[in-house]
This record gives sequence, C-alpha cells and structure tokens, in this order.
Amino acid sequence: MGNRIASRIDHLGTETAFAVSGDAAAWASSGHQVYPFHLGDMNIRTPENIIEAAHRAMLDGNTGYTPAAGIPALREALADSVSQSRGIAVDPAQVSIQPGGKPVIGKFLTAVMEPGDGVLYPNPGYPIYESQVDFLGGRAQPYSYVVEGGRFRFDRRSVEAALDETTRVLIVNAQHNPTGADADAADIAWLAALARERDLWVLSDDPYIDIRYAGRSHTMLDAEGLEDRTVVLYTFSKKYAMTGWRLGAAIGPQGVIDVITKINTNDESCTSHFIQHAGIEALTGDQSGSEQILETLRARRDLIVDRLESIDGVSVPATDATFYLFADVTEVFDRMGYQHDREEDVQAFRVKSMQETGVSFCSRSHFGRVQPAEERVYVRFAYSGIDADVADEGLTGLKAFWER
Ligand SMILES: Cc1ncc(COP(=O)(O)O)c(C=O)c1O
Repeated sequence: MGNRIASRIDHLGTETAFAVSGDAAAWASSGHQVYPFHLGDMNIRTPENIIEAAHRAMLDGNTGYTPAAGIPALREALADSVSQSRGIAVDPAQVSIQPGGKPVIGKFLTAVMEPGDGVLYPNPGYPIYESQVDFLGGRAQPYSYVVEGGRFRFDRRSVEAALDETTRVLIVNAQHNPTGADADAADIAWLAALARERDLWVLSDDPYIDIRYAGRSHTMLDAEGLEDRTVVLYTFSKKYAMTGWRLGAAIGPQGVIDVITKINTNDESCTSHFIQHAGIEALTGDQSGSEQILETLRARRDLIVDRLESIDGVSVPATDATFYLFADVTEVFDRMGYQHDREEDVQAFRVKSMQETGVSFCSRSHFGRVQPAEERVYVRFAYSGIDADVADEGLTGLKAFWER
C-alpha cells in the first residue's frame, strides 16, 4: 500500500507532556485562567545583546550554509568557555554545533549503540532517551531516583540491578529533569568508575549545568579518565533563555564528534548561520542577561517551594539546580479517593486539579514508563514559564482545592 507508514515508527516514542499542553490550551481557549507549571519552556526573554547579535549577523549577510560542524568561531568560543569553566582542555575539533541540545541524544545513540545494546538511562527522566533507545533497537535499562536526606538522588542499587552484560551506554543527567536531583562529586565518581569498569560510552546530558542557585554543578564532564568515552549534550536553551532558537552542541572525543557531524550533513546540513553568531555573543559578550535569568528563576523557586510546602499533604524534595520541582502529592491523592496503581486516576487527578484551579502540571508518566515498584505519587512543577506573582495566585487556589 502506497500510504503505509513504515513499521519502525511503531518504536518511536514522543514527549507525552505535549498532551498536557494541549489540555491546558483547550482549557484556556474556553475562557479559563491557566497557571502553566507544565511547561519546560521559558517565558523569559533572550538577553538583548544576543538578539542584537543575531540581527547584526543577518544584516551582515550571514544567511548561507555553514560547515556541518558549525562556524569555527563558535566552536572555538564554546571549547574555550567549557575549558575555562570546567578546568579541562577542550579542542574546537571536539565540538559539533547542533540545532538545539535534543538532537545530540539520537545522533549519539546512532553513532555508538548497536541494536541489542543495553542503555542505562534515568527514569523518571527526559522522555527522549527511552524513545530513541527503543527506536534504534537498543535495550532500555532504566534506573530510578530515591529521596535521601530530603533530596532526590539517583538510586545506585537500581543502576546495579538494571546493568547486565549487554550494557554499552550510560546516560547521566546530573542536574535532573524532572526531579531536580543534583549529583554530587561522589555520585559522579561512582558513575565514572562504573563506566570505566564496564567499558561504557557515556552521554552527559547537561542542559542545566549552569541553572544552579548554590554551590557548583558536578557532571560527567568533571570525571577523570572518561575523556575518550564521554559525549556532552550542551545547550544554549536554558542559560540564555534561547529555547526556540535551537542552538546546542555535542562535545566529546573527535572520532565520535566527526560521526555526529556526518549525521548533521545527512539531517539538517548545518545549524542556522546567524544563530551561531548569536551563540558567540552569548558565550563571549555581556553576561548580565544570563545572571538576571538565574535570579528570576531563583526568586520563583523560593516562592513556589514555600507555597507548595504549605499545602497539607505535599512535600517537595529540596533542589539547588534546574527549574523543576518534583512534589510528592501522595497524601492529597489518597484524600481525594484516587488509587495509586491506576494511571487513569493520576490523569483524572491532574485534569481535575486544572479544571478546579487552573493549575496545570505534568505527572510521573510524562517522564518515561512507570516502573512496577513505584509507590508514591509525584507531579512536576516547572517554574520556567510562569511569573512569581501568577504562580502565587495559582498556588493559593490549588492549596484551597487540595486541602478541601
Ligand atoms: C534533560 C534534558 N535534556 C535535553 C533537553 C533538550 O534541550 P534543547 O531545548 O536544547 O533541545 C532538555 C530540554 O528540556 C532536557 O530537559
């Protein structure tokens, strides 16, 4: 049949959180106020100097194709920036510019994972890991998160339990979407030892490396002796509020970076030319815009944690990184008469909360397949797309409804 879709597409997942955006948009278009805590997008403007640089680059005629790996000046600026901020030596040849961070996931797996290879990845986690592993014929080996000392951290036992002789790849999202878990130096050292012992490729998915309110980020970038096996997903999306510009990079050993660049040639040819010039300004120009972004996010986090914690039956594990809160709402859920093991109930709870209060959030199942052992009910509040005063208003209504 000429109109048949290829069967491989049966294995391609998606971001089911877009269904939440659809629900919220439908609710808003029927005249209701929506408080958008479901968005991983940002309602903060890109700093002016970056916008001006893109404009200037366009007027200067930078509108044609670029080399598939990106313009040399941006590769250099990014290599310098990462070298300086992390105290390591990155060569521009180790940088392949991408239209956003997300493409790095599929391209990296295409480059290093054979069908049947096991891939350890965070679950809950960014849903594209699971989608790409399934699509490319890998074996999904999810590992989980636990609350320890009032904070989320990845569960070492679940990594050990998921691992087997097929495992070839380890995906780490040290500043973690959706839990806000924030790896410490010991976590990174433990994962690095595992990667070396088991001879694994590592994807260090680091979009939130600079979205941090206290202390220093630890990621697989810092791990010693992993330089020849680690690819970093870098993105301009969050630090510079550039989500819609689509600008990121893969950084790693030149052999695999050259393969990723070959995939660029086959896929998009190159990342938009003038946007790459804006990236140079982002990295080397005035940083006050990105500092302001972080301050805005910090103020939102402080307020939202305070308001959520004040709700009877809600507990929010602490986090100093990302712009996500993964709140334990089990008691509220129970009080409202829903059943834990029923996904329909979780979605009914989410939709009912939105319809009664306008507060829209994502639930656990939007971040990968729910695992059998999970007992608590968590929902994700993102504060990148909602102003503090609007959030305050929404959460006042949510408190009234959830405590009723
Ligand atoms: C964990 C994680 N990885 C990767 C990405 C991709 O970011 P980008 O917008 O640069 O494609 C995101 C975006 O939300 C993310 O949360």
